[in-house]
Amino acid sequence: MNLVDCTEHLLRSEICVVPTETVYGLACSAFSVAAVKKVFELKGRPANNPLIVHVLNHDSADEICKTNELSVKLAKAFWPGALTLVLPKKKCIPLEVTSGRNSVAVRSPSHPLFRQIITRAKIPIAAPSANLANKISPTNYQDVLDAFGDKCPPILDGGECDFGIESTVLDLTTTIPQILRFGPVTKQDIENVLGFNIESSSTGKSTEKDLLSGKKSPGQGSKHYAPDTPLNLHSSIEKMFSSETIKAGDVVILPCPKTPHRSLSKKPIILYLSESGKTKDIAKSLYKILRQADKLLVNKIHISLFPLEDDLISAINDKLYRASTCQL
Ligand code: TXA
Ligand code: MG
Repeated sequence: MNLVDCTEHLLRSEICVVPTETVYGLACSAFSVAAVKKVFELKGRPANNPLIVHVLNHDSADEICKTNELSVKLAKAFWPGALTLVLPKKKCIPLEVTSGRNSVAVRSPSHPLFRQIITRAKIPIAAPSANLANKISPTNYQDVLDAFGDKCPPILDGGECDFGIESTVLDLTTTIPQILRFGPVTKQDIENVLGFNIESSSTGKSTEKDLLSGKKSPGQGSKHYAPDTPLNLHSSIEKMFSSETIKAGDVVILPCPKTPHRSLSKKPIILYLSESGKTKDIAKSLYKILRQADKLLVNKIHISLFPLEDDLISAINDKLYRASTCQL
């Protein structure tokens, strides 16, 4: 569908799929309870998981939530972009959007098509990632079609998403701001702007000990971003290759073709996350490669945690914990 149709759709309280710089979103008017309900239903989303509302800028955020000094600073530094702020909501946002909470998650996306839609529609747009609940977020047109099949709402095609993982979610309703979901804007980035240390509820920095004791890193320990094929998460590439769990025909995912590894007698199918091995490229293709692996219909996918070098790696590891069925 085109931009004009998409805007009209949203103004008629219908759902459509829009591109963002992070992942595709299942969009609707944040003011329409009926449309919001349709979004929850189509995604199969639990009623207690609130939606993100997308606005053009901090001034428009101010119309739907109680902004503060910190949000001003953060918006100046990171908006438009991949940072979502949780702030006390104003009355105009229905409780259906926020799953009954008094706070609302708000973000100003940078994707030019999505920005044009918000500009034309002149309403805040609620949009969770355009995937079925707990499945992998879509990063292009085809992924969205694959997710919803013949129930797929009209899609505005904006090409491949730039980041390929969801926005960072930062709670500004607590005394000390707290990262609720790791993403492209890192803890360090935020601390540099605020000038003080913040907290994070999902660390993504689990040690091997945490892994072995079966402690999941992310906050609620819920399962997300999961492929249908069981995903074995290993604590390092060396351990992955020395483990007995890799069978012939399984998929093994490695950072890049240059990643050193042992050769195995039981040959797995090897997929690479990037050509370069750079963190940003790996983040961008993570979901794409997980989908690709899933489509091969093998018995198991194996991947290992990334050694921590920066906060974006925490975000990637966090997604891996959530996607995995088994941590070794
Ligand atoms: O990159 C993104 O954020 C994408 C694009 C489409 O913008 N959206 C996205 O939405 O990932 P969704 O619904 O898949 O994830 C929203 C996250 C969930 O973890 C939800 O629990 C959290 O934000 N969230 C939303 N409102 C909240 C609130 N009031 N308090 C705490 N967490 C909230
Ligand atoms: Mg999602």
